[in-house]
Order: sequence, then C-alpha cells, then structure tokens
Amino acid sequence: MRRSSAPNVWRIQHLLDRITIKPADLLDQLSLIRLVDEVRPHEFYNLAAMSFVPASWDQPMLTGEFNAQGVTRVLEAIRQVDPSIRLYQASSSEMFGKVRETPQTELTPFYPRSPYGVSKVFAHYITVNYRESYNMFAVSGMLFNHESPRRGLEFVTRKVTDGVARIKLGLQDSLSLGNLDAHRDWGFAGDYVRAMWLMVQQERPDDYVIATGISHSVRDLVEVAFARVGLDWHKYVKVDPHLIRPAEVEHLIGDSTKARLQLGWQPSVDFAGLVHMMVDADLERVAAAPRALDRLSAL
Ligand code: GDD
Repeated sequence: MRRSSAPNVWRIQHLLDRITIKPADLLDQLSLIRLVDEVRPHEFYNLAAMSFVPASWDQPMLTGEFNAQGVTRVLEAIRQVDPSIRLYQASSSEMFGKVRETPQTELTPFYPRSPYGVSKVFAHYITVNYRESYNMFAVSGMLFNHESPRRGLEFVTRKVTDGVARIKLGLQDSLSLGNLDAHRDWGFAGDYVRAMWLMVQQERPDDYVIATGISHSVRDLVEVAFARVGLDWHKYVKVDPHLIRPAEVEHLIGDSTKARLQLGWQPSVDFAGLVHMMVDADLERVAAAPRALDRLSAL
C-alpha cells in the first residue's frame, strides 16, 4: 500500500484480520525490490493502477508513470530478486478502444482511445517482452469491465446503482450521466478474479481475454437498475455534456473462447444478476448509513 495519512481500505475492511499490508509504491523501484525480497511470494498480482479513464486526460504523465513504467518496475523487481515468481498483469479491454474487429480476441489489434488505454498497451507489451526476453512466467489478462458492490462510485455501474438507491430512499432526486449509448461487456468481478488465478496456475504463461461475450448500453444498465426498485428512469436521469469523454470507446464485446477452452473458465453471473446484486447492496448500505455514504460519494 502507498503511504497515506488517510487510510483507504473500505473494500478490504472484512479481510484486515487475515492479511498483512506492506508499504510499497509503483513509482519507487527500491520499495518494490525490498517488498519482493522480503515477502518472496510465489505469485504476484499487479492490480495497482490509475484506473479511472477520464482522470487520465487530466494527468496523462502520472497515468503513464503508474500504469506503464510502474509495471516495468514490478517486472524488474521480480527479475532481480527471483525470476521464478509468477506475475499476473491486469491488462484491459480499453486497449481495444476504437475496435478493429468485433468481438475482440487475444489477436485483435489495439487502438487505445485515452492516455489510460495507451498506458495499458505499454504495460501489456512490456509484460510480454519480459516473458520472451527473460523466460519469466508473466501473464497478461485482458479483462473486460468487471463490477461488484465494491466498485468505486465514480464508475458508471456503481454510480447508477448508488444513485438508484438514493433516489428510491428519497436522498437524491436526479442522476447526471454522460454517454448513454456507450456499450460495454460487463461481468462480475468475482468471476474475473477466478480467471486471474487460473491463468497463474497454468503450465505455461499466456495471455487471455476475459469477457461474458454479451454487450449492453449504459441506457440498458440504467433501465435494469431503476426497474429493480420499480422506478421509471426517464424521470430521473439527466445527460450532462461535461461527462462526455474527449474520445470515447463506443462498443466493447469480448470473445473469451481461449479462456473457456484452456482455463475451463466461464462466468457465473449474467448482466441482470449483476445489476440486481449491486442495486440490492446499495439499497441496504445507503439505508443503514445514509450519511456515511454521502461522504464517500462526495470524494
Ligand atoms: N464513469 C462514468 N460516469 N461513465 C459514464 C457515465 C458517467 O457518468 N455516463 C456514461 N458513461 C460511460 C463512459 O463514457 C464509458 O463509455 C462507460 O460508461 C463505462 O465507463 P466506466 O464505468 O468509467 O468504465 P470504463 O469502461 O471507462 O473503464 C473501466 O473498465 C476498464 C475495462 O475493464 C475501468 O475499470 C478501467 O480501469 C478498466 O480497464
């Protein structure tokens, strides 16, 4: 964990008595070398990144430092301390961007549409390059959007399900969104984490697309989420032009045949099941502590 005067552990609160947190920073090579040397893990999952796409236009250089060179630093730390450590690198469907073919597979050419997407393409190729240069077990998981009740409030699924809960409970009267026509292949994060682990257990390192193979629009998401609580979304949703991105990824849909055949992986939660799970969790949470969440959503 990066040092900070204000802890940010709400997602892992339930695990704190079972895990050990150690300091390190993707911007600091020595901290990574020290960490790997001290822990000597068998497996290293690099899920750390600046992961919010719009923020990457505001801070393109920092995004590159964390998401691109940060991965090089992780690879170097492993290479120098113990190159037999297995690395999982979190790559992204944002690398496909302005898609070159539909659906997207491991062989689809990349065309990223944001500094975030560009940084992830670098991270993907540096992972492949260290694998090929140094014979390291480094895998790149090209994961399509994966969501759960622990999703940050700035991402569209959680923004919608949190908004629906607040509107239903009378704490908010409208919800401002950007592009309702964008399409994403949304899956459940729990399923996707199982895929990460499976990739690292294989005999040989390889890269995999992880996706459900079904795409929905933001409008579909809004409709299913509001319907869950018996409300008509047309009465509450406003489009705010400030939330439209400078360059948009319009339509993503993944083909995970390789993962299904080689890893025996398949998703267990469908789109409606995912949206219902998130709306139900937000309803419960907001009802239990409306003020606490007010503070969170203001962050
Ligand atoms: N965040 C957000 N907020 N997105 C909105 C909104 C809004 O108010 N209105 C419409 N959208 C649209 C965005 O324009 C985008 O097309 C889509 O909803 C999804 O946006 P996000 O939920 O922010 O996710 P993302 O697709 O940009 O990126 C996520 O998924 C990637 C693939 O797994 C992030 O988690 C990335 O870090 C990840 O790599």
